[in-house]
Amino acid sequence: MKSQAITDNFEEANVDALAVAVFKDEKATSGVLKDLDKLTGGLIASVIKTEEFKGEMSETAYLLFESKGKVKASRLLLVGVGERGDYKASDVAALSGTATRALRKRNIKGFALLSRSDGDAMEVASNAMQGVVTSQFELDKYKTKDRNDKSVDNFVLCVEGAKEKDLKNGLERGKIIGDSMNFTRDLANEPPNILTPTEMANRANKMAKEVGLKCEILDEAKMEKLGMGSLMSVSLGSEQPAKMIVLKYEPKKSTGKKGELLALVGKGITFDTGGISIKPSEHMDAMKYDMSGGATVLGTMRAIAMLKPTVPVLGVVAAVENMPDGKASRPSDVVTAMNGKTVEILNTDAEGRLVLADAVAYAEKQGATRIVDMATLTGAVIIALGDLNTGIMGNDQDLVEEIIACGKDAGEDFWQLPVGKDYSKGIKSDIADIKNIGPSRKAGTIMGAVFIQEFVDKAKWAHLDIAGTAWADDAKPHRSKGPTAVAVRTLLKLVDKAQ
Ligand code: BES
Ligand code: ZN
Ligand code: ZN
Repeated sequence: MKSQAITDNFEEANVDALAVAVFKDEKATSGVLKDLDKLTGGLIASVIKTEEFKGEMSETAYLLFESKGKVKASRLLLVGVGERGDYKASDVAALSGTATRALRKRNIKGFALLSRSDGDAMEVASNAMQGVVTSQFELDKYKTKDRNDKSVDNFVLCVEGAKEKDLKNGLERGKIIGDSMNFTRDLANEPPNILTPTEMANRANKMAKEVGLKCEILDEAKMEKLGMGSLMSVSLGSEQPAKMIVLKYEPKKSTGKKGELLALVGKGITFDTGGISIKPSEHMDAMKYDMSGGATVLGTMRAIAMLKPTVPVLGVVAAVENMPDGKASRPSDVVTAMNGKTVEILNTDAEGRLVLADAVAYAEKQGATRIVDMATLTGAVIIALGDLNTGIMGNDQDLVEEIIACGKDAGEDFWQLPVGKDYSKGIKSDIADIKNIGPSRKAGTIMGAVFIQEFVDKAKWAHLDIAGTAWADDAKPHRSKGPTAVAVRTLLKLVDKAQ
């Protein structure tokens, strides 16, 4: 992917197409739209006049024009960005993504974008490039024909008056973030016969080598030794051995608070049949994405290693397959987790919290002072929030609010649900310390969170339930359907803030 930054006149751009952001109900009578209208012999004014294009969010109009020797481009794409007052730097990713997909479809290889955002130049450039990269991800990896192999591979960003260095840095950053999000999405899209826990660990290892992260894979013998009886119970019914993936990023020079360590912990269930509490077969195929939390941790760690922030970050992924079998755990089994707590397993389909229990305890034992876990944990969060908000809960209000704020900057929405002593009563067991489900049909998402909370000792902790947001059932103008890599951008902002 080639990229270039232009800070004065877009007419220099040596590409086949121009794309420009247009606000809702905007006329072509001033500024850059006026210039472009002149260049195209009045085409913009005429599409606006016919009301074929109104500048609504993600609306597009594709125009061919005679360039009259002034610019190389002979195509112009108008992309609606909605109300001028609501237009934020984070919207630029969807803008560039929408433009990329619309132009790629028409065999255009390179385009220049006039993003018209007055946000921070580096942020705008990063979002623009990320959108170009993530918009080209497709699900068709395993097709032997009819794959979408068209691509935009030359991107020029024009921001008048910006510093070229800021734009260049932003473009570079956006490429890293976009590629890392696609790394996450590729993992989430893999079929479970290919992406077993062992394969997930191998991919993590390979990635770690490429970007310079420390990587340790704990096998079952090691986990047994550490007393991870909760995690191991989920793996009993599977032919595939469980793996705990541990990645470490250490900066050359640290600027963060001494002794502080942020840990990102992910649920990596490579397939969730439900185990002996087996799921209905309809839609069970969707459960290949049950490792999305783990994939998010891996993608975020990849980006961190390349962006080189000045604070250390620990990544932990519990990669396990949940299958029914003669050896599988039964509803009513009791297991002991790494922190010594006993758990009565009343539903083997509530397995995510069982693996996260040992994963968060392990992260804290490694020195984590702040833990953010992410998981496709409950169907209940989809009922509550749909696919628009990730559920967030935690034991530290400041951390929860910081993540919500980072989400706002990144263009990702989080909605907090409560936790607390009274909810925690819901997971008291008659025969063990706790049970892995709460009262029938009540506060399912919160019950998952308060269970995980039992395995956090002193650390500040937040839990992200991404079951509704990690997979998109429909394509959007700026991205394909399928895995979304939700939370990668938000977590990168969180890491930035810790510096
Ligand atoms: N992986 C599922 C959560 C899930 C369910 C995600 C449906 C997307 C769609 C998780 O392991 C699970 O099965 N959770 C149970 C918990 C219940 C048994 C307390 C659920 O949500 O039904
Ligand atoms: Zn389950
Ligand atoms: Zn699950």
